Amino acid sequence: MVILTFGKRNFDCLVDKNDVIVYDAESQACILDRARLNMEKRFVFRHNNIEDCEQQLLRAQKITNKNKGATLLITEGVIGMCSDQGKLKEIVALKVNYKFLLLVDDAHGIGCMGKTGAGKGEAQGIQDGIDFHFGTFAKAFAGIGH
Ligand SMILES: Cc1ncc(COP(=O)(O)O)c(C=O)c1O
Repeated sequence: MVILTFGKRNFDCLVDKNDVIVYDAESQACILDRARLNMEKRFVFRHNNIEDCEQQLLRAQKITNKNKGATLLITEGVIGMCSDQGKLKEIVALKVNYKFLLLVDDAHGIGCMGKTGAGKGEAQGIQDGIDFHFGTFAKAFAGIGH
C-alpha cells in the first residue's frame, strides 16, 4: 500500500507510454483533465458500472499484453461529482481475472469512513486491494479542532 500525499494531478508519475488507464466517467475534473492531456491510451467506464468497467479492463489488457505495460484503474471512494459510494469491493474482485493496479482518490472518505477512519476501503473491507490511496488534508483533517 502506498499513500499519495501529493496532488493526484501528479498520477502521471505512476504511468509511462506503455501503460493504460481505466477510470470512472464521474471522476473529479482534475483526474479527467490529466487523463485527457497525458494519456494516449485511456478507457473510461460508465459511472459505477462494473460490467462496463470489466469491458474496459479487457480492452486495456489487450494493449498491455502487447506493450508489456500495466493498467492503472482510477476511481474514488466517495464520488465527489454525485456523492455516490464507489464500488471498491466489486472493483477489487475484478483483480481475480484482470491484472491492474488500483488508485483510489478517497479525498471524501479518508478521516471519516471505516472503523478507524482509514477511508472507504476500510469501510468496504478491501483496504489491502488498493494499491495507491489518495487522501487530502483539505477535508476531514482540516476539520479537526474546529
Ligand atoms: C475527489 C477530490 N479529490 C481531491 C480533492 C482535493 O485535492 P487536493 O488536495 O489536491 O487539492 C478534492 C477537492 O475538492 C476532491 O473533491
